Amino acid sequence: MSCAHWLATFAIDAPRIVFGHGALDELGDSVRGLGCTRVALFTDASVAKLELVVRARKSLEGAGVDAAVYDAVHVEPTDASFLDAARFATEGRFDGYVSVGGGSVIDTCKAAALFATYPAPFLDYVNAPVGEGRAPPGALPPHVACPTTCGTGSETTGIAVCDILALKAKTGIASARLRPSLALVDPTSTYTLPPEVVAASGFDVLCHALESFTAKPFNRRERTPVRPMSQGANPWSDMGSTKALSLVGQHLIRAVNDPSDHEARDALAWAATLAGIAFGNAGVHVPHAMAYAVAGLVKTFRMNGYPQDEPLIPHGISVVASAPSAFAFTASGCPERHLAAAVMIGGDDARSASPKDAGDALCRALGALMREARVPPHLGAIGYTMSDVTALTKGTIVQKRLLSNAPRDVGEEDLANIFARAMS
Ligand SMILES: [Fe+2]
Repeated sequence: MSCAHWLATFAIDAPRIVFGHGALDELGDSVRGLGCTRVALFTDASVAKLELVVRARKSLEGAGVDAAVYDAVHVEPTDASFLDAARFATEGRFDGYVSVGGGSVIDTCKAAALFATYPAPFLDYVNAPVGEGRAPPGALPPHVACPTTCGTGSETTGIAVCDILALKAKTGIASARLRPSLALVDPTSTYTLPPEVVAASGFDVLCHALESFTAKPFNRRERTPVRPMSQGANPWSDMGSTKALSLVGQHLIRAVNDPSDHEARDALAWAATLAGIAFGNAGVHVPHAMAYAVAGLVKTFRMNGYPQDEPLIPHGISVVASAPSAFAFTASGCPERHLAAAVMIGGDDARSASPKDAGDALCRALGALMREARVPPHLGAIGYTMSDVTALTKGTIVQKRLLSNAPRDVGEEDLANIFARAMS
């Protein structure tokens, strides 16, 4: 019998992906091919008004698939909004699921399918230590994800993120069983996105790639009884993350500034797909762990292009606002990768920088892109002050799954210092 342990190997997991102009029109036949005849179609109120949902419904109808639409997805979902979606899924007794929207929609669809298929108290499936971290007991019905933003990569991962309202913290559910069966990535879906949404989701892509590329390598992870879904940087995730970094470096600003630059928006959609596959295997680390607290503790910030009825920090902004400070900290864990990443996103001066300057070089390259894309450059710009450092640190230290993926150990005091540096 072999004594091989997963630490010596890495796994390659991804859903089937159909990418390109017109992919959305394959929805009906794809769903039918997965054996479904009656599906729940999840979307949100803004996407529901777009031609995209009409196209999706037409395609389903044409293939003889009955679809019931749920358009009440909460942008930046909460435990309450997940449960509301789960009630809809339970009552409908669907044999399949379709999501048409951004990460919030796709994540909500994953959670609804889970709770409708294997009912349990909400915290049972939520990541430990906030929840019990229980694995779903079996496979879920087919889910075809149709992303309409160019960022989250949720269509390729088994992760569903939400705010736990009572705790004012973001966490989520992570299991390979949540990964959609098929992703239909149609870049034309992104052509009508406002510049602010392209910028926020583009920086989410950038951070997925940066964090996957600089994550603790798969063969240096702590031993656990089973292979974790986020297994650390590996040759497969490196391919996706490095290509995504170059694509974002070359196309992000073009895609933000000019909606008619379809070449740039196509490139960003492809980068999002590659980065999604990369982080779905490697996992993200400190910037995303911090983002959970940053988004969860929002005060009054609102951003154009997003719902205005309540304060909301878009996910990509909550990640990138403290990312330069986080990478300045993690750089000493693998300086050569931080330097290479800086070059890939346009930081030419990183070519001649020494390993001890890797953090600063990446901060400069990231900062230049943030300025050009006109996103809030630090936490101070989204409403935080030094008096929030303790609460932000508390909200982050519980994200153990992500923090343990960092290239160097990160403790409570380190996090407080990273937050303090990210304030201005
Ligand atoms: Fe993200």
